[in-house]
Amino acid sequence: MTNSQRKILVTSALPYANGSIHLGHLLEYIQTDIWVRFQKSRGHMCTYVCADDAHGTAIMLRAEKEGRSPEAQIAAVKAEHEADFAAFQIGFDNFHSTHSEENRVLSEEIYKACRDKGHINVRSIKQLYDPVKELFLADRYIKGECPKCGAADQYGDNCEACGATYTPAELKNPYSTISGATPVEKESEHYFFRLQDFDAYLKEWTRSGTLQNEIANKLAEWLDAGLQEWDISRDAPYFGFEIPDAPGKYFYVWLDAPIGYMASFKNLCDSETGKAQGLDFAEYWQQGSEAELYHFIGKDIVNFHALFWPAMLTAAEYRTPTAVNAHGFVTVNGSKMSKSRGTFIKARTYLNHLNPTYLRYYFAAKLGSSVDDFDLNLEDFVQRANSDLVNKLVNIASRTANFVFKAGGKLSDNCVEAAMVQDFINAGDQIAAHYEAREFGKAMKDIMALADRANEYIQEKAPWAMNKEEGRQQEVIDVCSVAINLFRQLITYLAPVLPEIAEKTAEFLNLDDLKWDSRSNILLGHQINKFQPMLARAEMDKVNAILEETKAELAIENGEQPAAAADSKQGKKEEKKDKKAKNKGPELREDGNEVIADTIEFPDFAKVDLRVARIVKANHVEGAEKLLQLTLDIGNGETRNVFSGIKSAYNPEDLEGKLTIMVANLAPRKMKFGMSEGMVLAAGPGGSEIYLLEPNDGAQPGMRVM
Ligand code: MSP
Ligand code: ZN
Repeated sequence: MTNSQRKILVTSALPYANGSIHLGHLLEYIQTDIWVRFQKSRGHMCTYVCADDAHGTAIMLRAEKEGRSPEAQIAAVKAEHEADFAAFQIGFDNFHSTHSEENRVLSEEIYKACRDKGHINVRSIKQLYDPVKELFLADRYIKGECPKCGAADQYGDNCEACGATYTPAELKNPYSTISGATPVEKESEHYFFRLQDFDAYLKEWTRSGTLQNEIANKLAEWLDAGLQEWDISRDAPYFGFEIPDAPGKYFYVWLDAPIGYMASFKNLCDSETGKAQGLDFAEYWQQGSEAELYHFIGKDIVNFHALFWPAMLTAAEYRTPTAVNAHGFVTVNGSKMSKSRGTFIKARTYLNHLNPTYLRYYFAAKLGSSVDDFDLNLEDFVQRANSDLVNKLVNIASRTANFVFKAGGKLSDNCVEAAMVQDFINAGDQIAAHYEAREFGKAMKDIMALADRANEYIQEKAPWAMNKEEGRQQEVIDVCSVAINLFRQLITYLAPVLPEIAEKTAEFLNLDDLKWDSRSNILLGHQINKFQPMLARAEMDKVNAILEETKAELAIENGEQPAAAADSKQGKKEEKKDKKAKNKGPELREDGNEVIADTIEFPDFAKVDLRVARIVKANHVEGAEKLLQLTLDIGNGETRNVFSGIKSAYNPEDLEGKLTIMVANLAPRKMKFGMSEGMVLAAGPGGSEIYLLEPNDGAQPGMRVM
C-alpha cells in the first residue's frame, strides 16, 4: 500500500496552568500521542502542538496564594507539566503558553476581524462584585444560604441539599469565597461575540463529518434552542490580554485559549526546527488549506471547540478544523476520581511507583472512538499489563533471542515460515485502519491475537528441547529467526503505544527505526544484538502505594501535618502486616510468586532458615498452570515436598540434580495439590524470565545460608 504524504496538525486541549497533570488529563494526551506517532510511523508530515492555558482568575488567585507573580506561577507550572509529559513519552513537537506574544498578536487580530464584521456587541450587565478584593465574582466564587431550603454554604447556581437552581443574586446572606465580604451588585460594560450570526453555518458545519454523532446530536439541542451571544470580556483585575481599544477590559480566558493552538504552531514555524521542517503557518491555517487539522479534547469542552471556535475562525477568514475528536472521562474502579479514595492520581505520583508503559498500553487497549467514559480498573490494569505485555509480547523475544545470540547473533538466511510472517505483515493494513479511526482497542486486540499465534508457534516448535538434540542446531536458529521476525512485526504495530519498548527493540534488532512500511522486508541473514530485559511485571503493591501517596497528598492539602499523613500511612502498613501474619504461610499471588514483605529488622531475618537443597525430582502438577512439584534433599536424609511457581521458565527434567536455596522453616501450607513444605528461591520478573538461585560448586545439601 502506498499513500501520498499528508500534512496533519494535531492538538490536545491546553491544560490549565494552575494545577498538576493527573490521570484524567493523561487519557487525552496519551490518546493524541498514539495517534500522532502512528501518523508519523506511516510517513506523514504530522505535527503535534500544545501549550499551557495560562490566563484567568483562578491562575491569578493561585499565584497570589503562592506569593508570586502570575508570570512566575505559570513558568513554574509549565516546567512541571513539561517534565510530566516527557516522562509519559508525550511527543509534542511544541509546547508553548497562551501567555505569549504570538498568542497576543493572533488574539487581537481575530478579535478585530470579528469586530470589524459586526459580530461584537457591547452592553452593560450587572454582576456581583467583591468590594474588598475589588473584583467581579464568577458564580463559583460566591456562596450563601439556599433561597428555598436555607441550607448554608451553597454555591451560586444550585443547592446541593435540596437541588434547587437559582441565580447568585437570589442567595441569602451571600459571601465572597475569596475575601468573605458581602458581594454588591455592580454594573459594567461587557463585550459579546454574536454567536447567533453563525447559526446557519454551524448547523451545517456540525453535521459535515467534523464531529462524532453523539456530539453532533448534543449540539443540535443547543442549535435548535437558538444560539446566544457569548460574553468574551472580563474586567480588571484579570490575568490575560487587554482587549484592543477597550482599556481595563480583558479577553475571557476561553477566547484566547483555542487561539493558543495557532500560537503554539506559529512559535514552532518561526523556530529553527520549524524552518528546517519547512513548516509554513499560512499553509496550514489559510482557508482552503490542504493540510488537515484535528483537535483532541474531553467531552466537557465541546461547545468551545465546535461552536465558538469554528465561528471565530470563519469570521477571521481562517480554515476550520477537519475534525474535533472528543473522548469521555476517566473513572477509577467505576467511580469518579476522588481525592479521599486516593484515586485522584497525579502523573507524578504514578511515576513515583510505576512505569508509564503500563498505562499507555491500558489506555490503548480500552480506548475506542466514542465519547464513553473510560474506567481504569486497577486490578484489571495490573493483570492486563502483565498478561499482554510481559507474558505474551516480550516473552516471544526473551525465550528465543538467546539461542540466536549464542550462535553468533545472525538470523537465518531464509525464512522457514514465510507464509506466516507474510500473514503478520498483511495484518498491518487492518491494524492501521483501526489506528486511523482511533479504534485503538480493536488494534490492540488484533495485535494480541497475532502475539498468541507467535507464542503457539514457539510452544509447538519448542526450540529449547530441539536445542538438546544432536544436529538440530540450524533448525533452532530457523525457528527462533521466525519468532524474532514475528516479534518485529508486533513491535512495529505497537510502537505508537509503546515508544520506549520500540526503541529497545530497534536496538536489539539492530534497526534504525520500526516505521510502518519498513516491515515488509523480512529480516534475513541479519545481525541482531543481545536481548536485554524490556519490561518488569507490574505489581499491585505499587498501585496500592500510589493510592496511599495520593491520600497523603490530600492530608497535606487539608493542612494536616505531614507527619499525620505519614502516620496514617504507617497505620495501613501495620494493618497489612497483621493480615499477613494471620494468614499463616506465604500469601500466594495470582502468578504464584510470593508477596514481598515490608522492611524487617535483622532478628526477623535471622529467623529465616535458608538451606542449600538438591532437587532430586521435579514433576508437572496435573491441573496446575504455573506450578512444578519439587522433591528436595536438604541433607541428613531429610526430603521436602515443595510446589513452586516456576513452570513458565523450567522444564522439570532440566531441574533434576540442580542445587538451589530453600526456606526450610516456612510453615507448611496446604495447597489444592498437596502439602508444600517450604519454598525455593528464584529471581526475575516472571514468565520465562525466572532464574532459580544456584549456589556455587562445593555447596552441599543441608548447609545453612547466611
Ligand atoms: N484549559 C482548558 C482547555 C482549553 S483548550 C483550548 C481545560 N483545561 S483542563 O486542564 O481542565 O483539561 C484539559 C483536558 O483534559 C480537557 O480536554 C479535559 O476534558 C481533559 N480532562 C480533564 N479531566 C479529565 C478526566 N477526568 N478524564 C478525561 N479527560 C479529562 O479544559
Ligand atoms: Zn436548598
